[in-house]
Amino acid sequence: MEPPVLERLKAIDDLPTLPSVALEVLSLAHRPDVTIQLVAECIHRDPPLAAKVLRMANSSFYRRGDRQVETLHRAILFLGLAEIINITTSLSVFSALTSRRAVEVSIREQFWDHSVATGLMARHVDKKLQMRSLGREFVAGLLHDVGKIILDQYFHEEFMAAYNLSREQDRPMYETEMATCGTNHMEVGYYIARKWNLPPYLQDVILWHHKPSRAAFPDMAAVVSVADHMARAAQFSCGADTMPFVLADQDAWAVLKERGVDVNGLDVERMTFEMEAIGHQVKEYIETVMNPEEGGRRDG
Ligand SMILES: [Fe+2]
Ligand SMILES: [Fe+2]
Repeated sequence: MEPPVLERLKAIDDLPTLPSVALEVLSLAHRPDVTIQLVAECIHRDPPLAAKVLRMANSSFYRRGDRQVETLHRAILFLGLAEIINITTSLSVFSALTSRRAVEVSIREQFWDHSVATGLMARHVDKKLQMRSLGREFVAGLLHDVGKIILDQYFHEEFMAAYNLSREQDRPMYETEMATCGTNHMEVGYYIARKWNLPPYLQDVILWHHKPSRAAFPDMAAVVSVADHMARAAQFSCGADTMPFVLADQDAWAVLKERGVDVNGLDVERMTFEMEAIGHQVKEYIETVMNPEEGGRRDG
């Protein structure tokens, strides 16, 4: 019998890697003596990445006001270090995961639509609940299901079996993945997030977004979990995973209430409406990341 997927994964030596500059930026973030100059110089050592970061900083997602920023230094000044680190992390993971061609393009598209929709909704929920997560909630939403891409790339048959089972039986992917892979996208995502040395809050959300009460960063995991539900309810899903749900029955809801967050601002009906507005931003974000030279703005 073949060894379990997680064991086989650990033996693979060509897993995607993050650009070394991204790793350096992430570690700079923890240094007390970090300066704008230091971060700008670091990112500049990878010119294509630097160009992408600058374009993203000028996209409608991050831009503040009408003025274009022309240098990374100014972008950091305007957006703050935290947001530049968020942008660098997202872009690096995005490019690491899109370097290999997808076998099933439509499923890969569904995956990115779901991921970006979750990130945008997380930003919305975070604002509504006044959590002030400094844009980290967007990155966490964007990357929460990263394990699915790894499963799809390296264990395509088993992943497709889980995907089809999820659709046929209307069961969540993490359950059907367990049945076909003997692991799930949370464990696989956690493995790769640790390997990449992603910040602890990201490792945690990747592992616990379906069970925020177990998370070390429960607020963030709960915000992403709510956003994940909302994205799926708005048909931004990968797999079936679109079963109706009552937000107040979810683990995330209990976590937020227990932590004294005023959850009254979370009205599912209203959020469904807002989710529709987020729909067009999903495409725009993906275009900005995929075709950075076009600057991401679409006419009409
Ligand atoms: Fe998930
Ligand atoms: Fe998800």
